Amino acid sequence: MALVLDKEHIPRHIAIIMDGNGRWAKEKRLARTEGHREGMKRVEEIVDAADALGVRYVTFFAFSTENWRRSKTETAMLMRFLDIFLQCNLKRLIKNNIRFLAIGRKEPIPEYAWKRLIATQAQTKENSGLTLILAFNYGSRQEIADAARKIAEEALAGRLVPGDINEENFGEFLYTKGIPDPDLLIRTSGEVRISNFLLWQLSYAELCFPKVYWPEFKRQNFEEAISEYQRRTRRFGAV
Ligand code: FPP
Repeated sequence: MALVLDKEHIPRHIAIIMDGNGRWAKEKRLARTEGHREGMKRVEEIVDAADALGVRYVTFFAFSTENWRRSKTETAMLMRFLDIFLQCNLKRLIKNNIRFLAIGRKEPIPEYAWKRLIATQAQTKENSGLTLILAFNYGSRQEIADAARKIAEEALAGRLVPGDINEENFGEFLYTKGIPDPDLLIRTSGEVRISNFLLWQLSYAELCFPKVYWPEFKRQNFEEAISEYQRRTRRFGAV
């Protein structure tokens, strides 16, 4: 059944934890990496859907700092997929006026993959449409600790007074500087956890946990999540 979405209340920023690639592959007796390969196609489709609906920012959790604990084969393949994804999509990003951003730490991402991230950011930086953000080698506690370190360094150098730090300007020290907080978080596969993702930024987000694996998450599922978001009342702590 076609969903009717309220075009006036499309979330400005949607963050997505793409979970369930491994389980999807296992159920199909495929290698885990095949789940990631299929998952990559869903990223393309959801970017298109978000763009068409007028979402302004979409952030995908593509690789966490904890993911390095996986097998060498799987992590190496995820680096290759990042490279392939950006290489294959550059033309489309430019054509559709999509700006690409990456958040996360550089080390120990292989040089070829890091260069691709940086180049794609540079080649799309003037685009003014949807902002596509990949959280890659990202961990939220690490991001917050990095922010605390930067603030301490600024204070020590005399460029900042510790008493001036507040909720508003703390965000300027995060990797997401300049990006509005997500309004909606979607985590696929039915797992109900945040897993060290955008802990500061998700403070007021609506959370949605559809019970489908990421490789099966289609446009219809995305629209259902937005519809659920629109049915909830957002009060930001007020009555
Ligand atoms: C979680 O599923 C998914 C990941 C750790 C990686 C997500 C990566 C992709 C979708 C492909 C790369 C995409 C881009 C855009 C570079 P899981 O493996 O933890 O699944 P499981 O919990 O079922 O094992």
